[in-house]
Amino acid sequence: MPTVTILALESSCDDTSASVVRDGRVLSNLIAGQAVHMSYGGVVPELASRAHQANVVPVTDQALKQAEVTKEEIDAVAFTRGPGLLGSLLVGTSFAKGFALARGIPLIGVNHLQAHVLTHFIIGKEKEARVPSFPFLCLLVSGGHTMMIILKNHLDMEVIGNTRDDAAGEAFDKCGKLMGFPYPAGPAIDKLAAKGDKNAFIFSKPVIKGLGFSFSGLKTNFLYFLTDRTKEDPGFIEKNKADLCASLQHTIVSILLTKLVKASELTGIAEVGIAGGVAANSGLREAVAREGRKRAWNVFIPPVIYTSDNAAMIGITGYYKYLSGDFADQDIIPLARM
Ligand code: KG4
Ligand code: ZN
Repeated sequence: MPTVTILALESSCDDTSASVVRDGRVLSNLIAGQAVHMSYGGVVPELASRAHQANVVPVTDQALKQAEVTKEEIDAVAFTRGPGLLGSLLVGTSFAKGFALARGIPLIGVNHLQAHVLTHFIIGKEKEARVPSFPFLCLLVSGGHTMMIILKNHLDMEVIGNTRDDAAGEAFDKCGKLMGFPYPAGPAIDKLAAKGDKNAFIFSKPVIKGLGFSFSGLKTNFLYFLTDRTKEDPGFIEKNKADLCASLQHTIVSILLTKLVKASELTGIAEVGIAGGVAANSGLREAVAREGRKRAWNVFIPPVIYTSDNAAMIGITGYYKYLSGDFADQDIIPLARM
């Protein structure tokens, strides 16, 4: 089979990323983050879009250079079609269209969520060539989504569980904001949790039938808890921050793990993985690995660099779409919801 070299772009939220993927192997994966949102407590769509415009050309240029690949060697351009922030998606989409048109090569629109799951099929320096077999059960946990997914083959996935309200990443970020952490709070909570007692405080867990999730109750519970305690002692948060982080993380991880176990039991699938930004969480990684050993699952935990938004996952999805001839026209539009 001839070599297939894909240039991939990701711009769904607040990271501008470009990657070169050759035959499923990542040659480069550049990510430009956007510190501009930190002080706002969340991503500001208009600022994100402008930062993508400033970053997309230099990031792509660097991705090609690092991969030691010329523009002429690119066979197709894959880009994130959605879901995401429309203004941000438009930048990657327009750039991809222009590149494909100028070079006369095919364009491939990629679903961001599918790409997070297909992270497990990336072959790279950081990733051994061990890939899941089908059907593959994957818990997708990010800042925007919390989903239980069955991947039947590379391009066929079924969502069997979803959140009714907030995503797991939002639970970390919103509760973190209440403790005074800048956005995104997830990584800082993870770090401080290592120094705290996970059983210091008990927070509420939702009672949701089936494979659904809910995190809004936990956020409210956390807010009222902090309000009550700081009334008694204004220094409560600062004095107990590590314990608060450890207990909060423990609660979120246990909500996620309970549903993952349930999904495996209901489907009979023992090929199990996690993906998305929250899959970087050390508590979740340890809990899934431990549970996997106990239940003889074949566990897939992605390298941290492929958990958050990155173009390598768009490239691997683009590669499988290329093989199946699934190309987009020049009039394709990005979709905020997919
Ligand atoms: O997948 P992602 O980069 O972007 C979305 O598509 O949403 O996920 C970002 C989310 C944020 O909510 C961030 O706080 C969370 O992932 N996150 C973490 C950790 N690293 C990132 N949450 C908990 N622990 C972490 N180590
Ligand atoms: Zn994402």
